[in-house]
Amino acid sequence: MNKLNNRTRRVENRFGKSGSMSAKPGSPSAAKPLARDRVRTVVLVGFMGAGKTTVGRALSRRLGLPFEDLDDRIHHREGKTIERIFRESGEAGFRKAETAALRELLGELGSSLRVVALGGGAFVEPGNAALIEEAEAHSVFLDAPVEELLRRCMEETTARPLRRNPEQFRVLYEKRRRSYMRAAVRIETGGKDVDTVAAEVACSLGLG
Ligand code: S3P
Repeated sequence: MNKLNNRTRRVENRFGKSGSMSAKPGSPSAAKPLARDRVRTVVLVGFMGAGKTTVGRALSRRLGLPFEDLDDRIHHREGKTIERIFRESGEAGFRKAETAALRELLGELGSSLRVVALGGGAFVEPGNAALIEEAEAHSVFLDAPVEELLRRCMEETTARPLRRNPEQFRVLYEKRRRSYMRAAVRIETGGKDVDTVAAEVACSLGLG
């Protein structure tokens, strides 16, 4: 069974009933032909619940690029779920695996552009952000008010080792926000649906 698809399906259901950040059924993601020379690898960053995977999939359809979730690559490389890596190796072990997976992924970009969703802590590591910049990828911070991020995370079943309690969630968001702001672009996602956000990301590439 393809684990990648399992996770993707879970994440896509994430905002299904909430009204905001939900995909409009049947809405065309690839509306018009794109200027191919402006298409670049897009790396979506942001906190848990930002919609990185959901928006990433919609954007990949819009840009005609493959989509990849870095956590899925980590899962496959390590042969363990993210939760199990945290349990057995701690956050430090997970971060090591994350950087190794990111390096591998960025090394493949020369031959294949793509849309990439990072896990919530990946861009916070300065070395990882530098690798992304060196790869000349377009980094995009998907932001939302922390209470909305919390609500989205509470509505879904994905196991998140670092989503412990609401207070800790808020503190971690505040601590990380400055790092996310180092992305080339920040897009506010609060109250918007998935296709709107994907269109705004495409616009930030000059592909409006
Ligand atoms: C993490 C977020 C998770 C995953 C891991 C660590 C974080 O990804 O990478 O549990 O440090 O915020 P999502 O942002 O997709 O939940």
